[in-house]
Amino acid sequence: MKLPFVSREQLVVGVDIGSHAVKVCEFKKTDKGYHVLALGSAVIPEGAVDDGTLEDPEKVGEIIADLFKNLNIKNKKVGFSISGYSVIVKKVNLAVMDDEQLEEYLMLEAEQYIPFDISDVYLDFQDLKTNTPENDRTDVMLVAAKKDIVDDYLEMLKNINLQPVIVDVDGFALENTYETNYEKSDNVALVDIGASKMNINILSKGVSVVARDIVVGSRQLTEQIQGAFEMEYDEAEALKLGQIPAEDKQEEMEEIFSSTCTQWVLEIKKAIDLYHSNNPDAPLSRLVLSGGGAKVVGLAEFLESETSLSVELFNPFSNMSFNKKKIDADYLERVGPEMAIVSGIAIRPSVI
Ligand SMILES: Nc1ncnc2c1ncn2[C@@H]1O[C@H](COP(=O)(O)OP(=O)(O)OP(=O)(O)O)[C@@H](O)[C@H]1O
Ligand SMILES: [Mg+2]
Repeated sequence: MKLPFVSREQLVVGVDIGSHAVKVCEFKKTDKGYHVLALGSAVIPEGAVDDGTLEDPEKVGEIIADLFKNLNIKNKKVGFSISGYSVIVKKVNLAVMDDEQLEEYLMLEAEQYIPFDISDVYLDFQDLKTNTPENDRTDVMLVAAKKDIVDDYLEMLKNINLQPVIVDVDGFALENTYETNYEKSDNVALVDIGASKMNINILSKGVSVVARDIVVGSRQLTEQIQGAFEMEYDEAEALKLGQIPAEDKQEEMEEIFSSTCTQWVLEIKKAIDLYHSNNPDAPLSRLVLSGGGAKVVGLAEFLESETSLSVELFNPFSNMSFNKKKIDADYLERVGPEMAIVSGIAIRPSVI
C-alpha cells in the first residue's frame, strides 16, 4: 500500500566537473526504477579545471548556472564529485569497532594512512564489514579529501545559488552507476577514461578491491596531434574527433592513437594483473568502459584482444525511462559513456 502524503525519495542533481566538460543530470525515482528528467553537458575552457582543482571558479560557475537554466532544473540540491591528487581513498584493515569508536580511532590515527596533515582534510570512512567468525578484523574504506580544494567547489556552487549536499568521489560514483544497472555478484573492471585521467575500479562481488587514478586521458591525443601538425588546440581536437577530415595526416594520426592507446591498455592490464594475483579464485568476467576517451574508435576491440575479457561501453541509461519528447534517444545513447560518473552522483538521495 502506498501512503498518499509521503513524498518520494528526493535525489540530488548530479554535477560532474571534468577537465574537459561539465555534466549535469537529474533523475526521479519511480516504482520501475529511474526516470531521466534532465541531462546535459558543456565544454569548459582549457585549464579552468586542472588535476581536480578549480582554477577558474567564476567561469565554471557561469557554465553550470547556464546548464541549469537551459535544462530548466529547479532542484537546488546538488552533489558533485572529486578526484585527482586532492583525494585519497585507502582500504585499511582494522580490528572490529563500532562506528563511534572507529571515528575516534581514525581522528587520532588516520595520519599514518594518508600523506596529508589531518587538519587539512575532510575525513570519511565506511566499514566494509569483511570480518568473519574466524577473523575479527575488517576492511575499512578511508577517504581523505583536501579541505581547500573541496571548499573551492562548495563556494563556487553556493555562489550560483546551489546547495551542495553531497561530495562524492569519481570512482565511487562509477561503482554506484554500475550497481544500479548490473548484477552485484560478478567480478568486473570499471574503467573511466576522461580527458586528463583514467579511473580504474575493480569490483569483486560488489566490493571495490583495486582503485586507482592514473594521469592519462584523451587530451593526450589532442596535444600530440597539436604538436605533430603544429596547429591550434581546438583544431587538433576537431581532427581527433573526425569533425574535420584527416586526409594526408591519416597515417601519423593512426600512429598517435595506437601508441597512446597501447599505454592506456598497459595501465589497465597492470591493474587487472594485480587483481588476478590477489584473487586467483575469482577471475574477472568483463570490463566496462566509460568516459569520453572510451569512445576512441577501435579501443574496446583492442582492449578485448589484449585482456581476453568481454569489453563493453557503459550506457548508464539502458534501464531508465525518459520523456522522448524532451530527450533525444540517440543523444542519450551517444553520451552514455561520458555520463557514467554524473549518473552515479545523481542517484544519491538528497536527504541522508
Ligand atoms: N570519439 C572520441 N574519440 C576520442 N576521444 C573522444 C571521443 N569523444 C570524446 N572524446 C574525448 O573525451 C574527453 C571528454 O571525456 P569526459 O567528458 O569523460 O572527460 P572529463 O570528465 O571532462 O575529463 P576528466 O574526467 O579526465 O577530468 C575529451 O578529451 C574528448 O575529446
Ligand atoms: Mg571525468
